[in-house]
Amino acid sequence: MTGAETTQTFRTAIVPAAGLGTRFLPTTKAVPKELLPVVDTPGIELVASEAAQAGAKRLVIVTSPGKESVVNYFRNAPELEETLESKGKTDLLAKVRRGPGLLDVEVAIQEQALGLGHAVAQAEGNLTDEDGAVAVLLPDDLVLPTGVLERMAAVRAREGGSVLCAFDIPKEQISPYGVFDVTDTGDPDVKRVHGMVEKPAPEDAPSTYAAAGRYLLDRSIFDALRRITPGSGGELQLTDAVALLIAEGHPVHVVVHRGGRHDLGNPGGFLRAAVDFALEDPEYGPSLRTWLTERMESQRP
Ligand code: G1P
Repeated sequence: MTGAETTQTFRTAIVPAAGLGTRFLPTTKAVPKELLPVVDTPGIELVASEAAQAGAKRLVIVTSPGKESVVNYFRNAPELEETLESKGKTDLLAKVRRGPGLLDVEVAIQEQALGLGHAVAQAEGNLTDEDGAVAVLLPDDLVLPTGVLERMAAVRAREGGSVLCAFDIPKEQISPYGVFDVTDTGDPDVKRVHGMVEKPAPEDAPSTYAAAGRYLLDRSIFDALRRITPGSGGELQLTDAVALLIAEGHPVHVVVHRGGRHDLGNPGGFLRAAVDFALEDPEYGPSLRTWLTERMESQRP
């Protein structure tokens, strides 16, 4: 399915980017973690590009006071573009224009860090009557290869309701995630969801299917977000709003993604992503591969 065929399903993608980035201190004193480069491209551009590829026309970035640079990254830079143009640096010019050309970027401000559910709720004012459903993409999560949003849109078109992305992960690693209570459907990669719990202890987890940062949510999620109370970590959780919709009979499914995933939200996961992307890069890949191989075999001088 192409992006164009999914435009009726959703046209707005919401990216919550209001966090303090404490795991990346001290860098995040000055630079938002969403702008840290995976090779040369900020993680948030990779996520915006995935949303655009799936048919989104608009990106609402939910950010906090002081993190305006995340939104500014998607604005044109006329002086820089003129300089590059006059010097004939067409490849760089294309890179500089790529982010702003992806989709229309708007901002919503989360004044207080009250949780992911609260962050998503701040985007409601940016929606129009056309937004019967919205995509939510967490910029910490890179889901590879891209394309899962298109599969989720196809499930919403067939089943209605909301569709989330799940990864099947080992039970002992499940507790940092929202976890689904599921039953099988005729398709092994699509499951019906009967409940969802945020950050359970492994022994309390209803399955090994964990939420992986991609959500296609019916607009009724905003009504549910107004009715939840603080949950895990004392925060207003998106998971609890999804669980509330399920309890009220709203259909929710997951698409199980069997590919890869990187967690850009901590230095260890971020480094893996950077190395993974760099190894595939025609300019940097070959010499990095040689150096890494040598480095693995030798002690540091
Ligand atoms: C958030 C969600 C959680 C989800 C996870 C995916 O948690 O609350 O349900 O499984 O993202 O990365 P966080 O990582 O913000 O604690």
